[in-house]
Amino acid sequence: MRLLGIETSCDDTAAAVVVDGRSVESNVLASQDEFHRVYGGIVPEIASRKHAETINAVIDLALRQAGRTFVDIDGVAVTCGPGLPGSLVVGVAAAQALALARDLPAFAVNHLHGHLFANYLEDPHDPSKALPAAPFLCLVVSGGHTDLIFVEAPDRHRVIGRTLDDAAGEAYDKVARLLGLGFPGGPAIDRLAQSGDPKAFDFPRGLHRERSFSFSFSGLKTAVRYHLEAHPEDRTARLADIAASFQAAVVDALCDKTLAAAKDLGQTTIALAGGVAANSSLRHELRARASALGIRVLVPPLAYCTDNAAMIAAAAFYRGDVARVKPNELLVDPNFAW
Ligand code: KG4
Ligand code: ZN
Repeated sequence: MRLLGIETSCDDTAAAVVVDGRSVESNVLASQDEFHRVYGGIVPEIASRKHAETINAVIDLALRQAGRTFVDIDGVAVTCGPGLPGSLVVGVAAAQALALARDLPAFAVNHLHGHLFANYLEDPHDPSKALPAAPFLCLVVSGGHTDLIFVEAPDRHRVIGRTLDDAAGEAYDKVARLLGLGFPGGPAIDRLAQSGDPKAFDFPRGLHRERSFSFSFSGLKTAVRYHLEAHPEDRTARLADIAASFQAAVVDALCDKTLAAAKDLGQTTIALAGGVAANSSLRHELRARASALGIRVLVPPLAYCTDNAAMIAAAAFYRGDVARVKPNELLVDPNFAW
């Protein structure tokens, strides 16, 4: 089954062609970073307008790169939420028009399911990589979410923990702004942290002592702000140490809770997903700490961690009838829950 995936939930316009939820024939992404950078964050109205300008060209390119035409496509999968309403509506309108005009099945996909099912896409660097076999635990860490999910079956997900305030990616972006590193902040902090000392400053690990699997990152962000106010000289002299210490606090909190949940639920597989799963330290630390406990960690290739449309096509394939809707029932749902 060859699906066209469409993703416009935030600031990336994306389309992809994926066969059987696994084999990626094309994965096209038009980034809007340059238009939002000057504002230090995503401006929803700009995101929506840019999606409308580029969506047709992005879909066209995805088909051409796959060497396919609409005749070869068996269905259209689109992100219906969660996300920015003005952004979602552009992808949904495009998918609806295509499904109606071409008489194709339509699939309404939850963006978070997309991140999870990125783990099912073929890894071009490791074609023999094992697929996660349910049950397993999935940590979804993105700009809007930090959710610990117990995947009982591919179509049965239970949220067992989530952030009580900022998402991990949001904390990265806000702290990057405090440090003057620009937007998006995650990759900038990740890079800078590599030349800093992660033990230089002891920033707080939110809800460290609590037995729950909830996360909290707003206290960490505030601690970095107070530190910069008390030591303005560190802004230049010790920027890399601050970045590394901040990152160590985030990664520690994510690893602690995820490994505790895996032990509690008796799970031996953890999958990572979402933009923050691209973080080099999180990938390394979680793998190292998990392997000492006999737990294996699956991580999607970098291009499938951050927002993309291949993961949306994968989610549609694996959820099948649960996601399938009549084209005129494709509706934007900005608060689409797990
Ligand atoms: O999944 P995603 O592309 O979009 C959402 O669904 O939110 O995640 C974007 C988030 C941003 O907050 C970005 O700063 C963060 O992922 N991010 C990273 C890295 N790459 C992207 N955070 C830490 N380290 C990275 N290498
Ligand atoms: Zn995302």
